[in-house]
Amino acid sequence: MSCFSCCMPQEKIEKKLSKKSIQDHKDNKSLASFANISYKSDSSRRRYITEEIEKFGKGNISSQIFTFHELSVATQNFNPETLIGEGGFGRVYKGHIESKKTDVAVKKLDRNGFQGNREFLVEVMILSLLHHPNLVNLVGYCSDGDQRILVYEYMPNGSLEDHLLNIGPDKKPLDWNTRIKVAAGAAKGLEYLHETAYPPVIYRDFKASNILLDESFNPRLSDFGLAKLGPTGDKTHVSTRVMGTYGYCAPEYASTGQLTTKSDVYSFGVVFLELITGRRVIDNSRPSEEQNLITWAQPLFKDKKKFHLMADPLLEGNYPEKALCQALAVAAMCLQEEASTRPLISDVVTALEYLSVGKSQAGNEEEARESSAEKCSTENTENNSPDDNLRESKIV
Ligand SMILES: Nc1ncnc2c1ncn2[C@@H]1O[C@H](COP(=O)(O)OP(=O)(O)OP(=O)(O)O)[C@@H](O)[C@H]1O
Ligand SMILES: [Mg+2]
Repeated sequence: MSCFSCCMPQEKIEKKLSKKSIQDHKDNKSLASFANISYKSDSSRRRYITEEIEKFGKGNISSQIFTFHELSVATQNFNPETLIGEGGFGRVYKGHIESKKTDVAVKKLDRNGFQGNREFLVEVMILSLLHHPNLVNLVGYCSDGDQRILVYEYMPNGSLEDHLLNIGPDKKPLDWNTRIKVAAGAAKGLEYLHETAYPPVIYRDFKASNILLDESFNPRLSDFGLAKLGPTGDKTHVSTRVMGTYGYCAPEYASTGQLTTKSDVYSFGVVFLELITGRRVIDNSRPSEEQNLITWAQPLFKDKKKFHLMADPLLEGNYPEKALCQALAVAAMCLQEEASTRPLISDVVTALEYLSVGKSQAGNEEEARESSAEKCSTENTENNSPDDNLRESKIV
C-alpha cells in the first residue's frame, strides 16, 4: 500500500521485484500437487491423501518419521501430566526425544476421517517444504495405522494467548516492546508465506493461540492444517469453504468464501489489536457493546484523543504515546472492510520495523515513521465492523 512505500528499504523493494520461489523444482511440484487437492472429486481426493500419507513412509518428505511406540516413550504413554494444551484437533503433550536430546511438543490428532487426514497432510507438507525463523519447526510425524501425530520443536513460552489473553495473576503481562516484537515477527512469518513461497500460501488461521513463543519471546506461527495455496496467474482469489476461527476471519471471506492473502492481513489486524488492547476479539464476559473488539474499537479509531483508552490497562501507561497512535493506525488499516484497501503484509512488516525499539531511536527514521503513520491515520477511518454471519467458535 502506498502509505508505507515511503519507508520501504531498497533491498525490500528489490526482493519484491525479483520475487521467485525459494523452493527447488521438486518442492514446487509437491506444493502444486498439494494444490490439486482442491480440484479432485471427494473419493479421488481421499485416495490421493491416503497415498500421500503412505508415501511419507517411503522418504518422500524430509521430516523424521516416528513410530507410535517412540512417541509413547517420549511422552510417558501420553501421560496427562505431560499435557500442555488442547485444541480443536487434539491434545498437545510435552515430550523428550532421547536420541535427539531434545524436548518436543507432540500433537495427537483425534479428528478422524477425511478432514483430519487432509489437515495432517497439509501441515506435514507445508512445514516440510517451507522454513523460516517465524514458522514453527516440524521435527517429524507418525502415521502408524490410524494414528496421526505431529511432533514439533517445543516452544518454552507456549502461545501468545497464554501471555496476553489467558493471563493469570502469577504471570507478568507482556511489555510494549515485546508486543511489537511479537507482532513484527508474526507479520514476517506471514510475509514469507504470502510473498516468498510460491505458489503463495494463505494461512487462514492467524490467531493468538497459533502464535507460539520461544524462550526469548520470538514468535513462530503454528497450525498449518487449514492453509490454502493462494491464487496464481490471473486469478484474484480462491473460492473455498469458510474455515477459520470466529472473530478472526475477514468479513468478505466469512460471507462469500472468497479467500486472498488480504484475509490473513485482516486476521493479523485482529491479533495486533488484541496485542495493543489486551482484549480478546470475542469476549462474552464483557458488557454487550464491548463483546466484539472490532466493533468496540471502530468509534475509538476515529478519535485520536481516545487512543489511550484502547491501550491495555496492564501496560500501566508504559508505552510511547506516538508509537501507540502509529500501532493503532496500522491495525485499523489491516481491519478495513474492503480487502483491496488493506496493506500488503510486507508493508505492515516495514511499518512495524519502524515501530520496534531499536529503529525508532534514529532521528530520520523517526521522521519517516511519523509521516507514514500520520498518513495512515487519515486513511483508516472507514467503518469496518466485521461480518455477523460467522458461527461461534471454530468454523470447520
Ligand atoms: N510446539 C509447541 N510448543 C509448546 N506448546 C505448544 C506447541 N504447540 C502447541 N502448544 C500448546 O498447545 C496449545 C494447544 O494448541 P492447538 O494448536 O492444539 O490448539 P489451539 O491453537 O489452542 O486451538 P485450535 O485447535 O483452534 O488451533 C497451544 O495453545 C499451546 O499452548
Ligand atoms: Mg493451534
